[in-house]
Amino acid sequence: MGGSQYCLDTVSSIKAFRRRADASVNWAEPPSYPATTISFSEDETNPDRYGPTWEVPKGRKDGRISKAIETRQLPAPTFNISQLQQSFGQRGLSMHDLVVLSGGHTLGFAHCSSFQNRIHNFNLQKQVDPTLNPSFAASLNVICPAHNKVKNAGATMDATTTYFDNVYYKMLMQGQSLFSFDQALLTTPSSKKLVAKYASSMEEYERAFVKSIIKMSSISGNGKEVRHNCRRVR
Ligand code: HEM
Repeated sequence: MGGSQYCLDTVSSIKAFRRRADASVNWAEPPSYPATTISFSEDETNPDRYGPTWEVPKGRKDGRISKAIETRQLPAPTFNISQLQQSFGQRGLSMHDLVVLSGGHTLGFAHCSSFQNRIHNFNLQKQVDPTLNPSFAASLNVICPAHNKVKNAGATMDATTTYFDNVYYKMLMQGQSLFSFDQALLTTPSSKKLVAKYASSMEEYERAFVKSIIKMSSISGNGKEVRHNCRRVR
């Protein structure tokens, strides 16, 4: 997975791919790359590491301007299952897509602010979300103490954060997920069954991910133009 799904030229895609990988491993400072020298270590070019590949459908319309306000329509990490279903449903995505796409959290990093609700003042009775594995919660607490002042503090999404794999689902089933919304996937029998299915089969997960990511990347919104050069508006 990775790269820029809207970049049709190879160099932009490789650069985006590389930035994505580095942002996950080395989140402190996004690196800058010289225009022509891109090198990959043997491990980085191992196709198993980045998961499935797919043919990106052409012809999707992009907008010409980017508005911060539009990101407010994104689902929040504190959403429960019905809020998630509603948010995905409004965009034509099913419960199955929700579970499969959430597995995208096999890559990357989350700041303390995104999951602090689970480890501090969870509710009136409990400080910590009781669905969290206690030692996992304790380790998050060390990284993200109450009133944390370290801006970049946080945790990787799963234990193999630079690999596209199904460890996210395995950890989720063991109470080792970061967000409330991850945990919410275990709150209905149908979504829980899907989590268990993808935790036990990497092949099935990869196949399902390709279908759902193509579906999600085909959501058109209010796009205005089909980019001929992904770095430039016409
Ligand atoms: C159910 C809806 C989703 C919610 C509520 C959600 C929430 C979040 C949150 C809170 C973060 C961490 C932000 C931070 O603290 O810096 C994050 C990061 C991330 N999300 Fe999601 N997400 C959702 C769906 C997706 C989907 C569909 C994908 C891809 C298929 C995805 C891929 C990622 C990746 C790769 C990161 C890591 C970014 C980084 O390392 O900088 N997420 N998401």
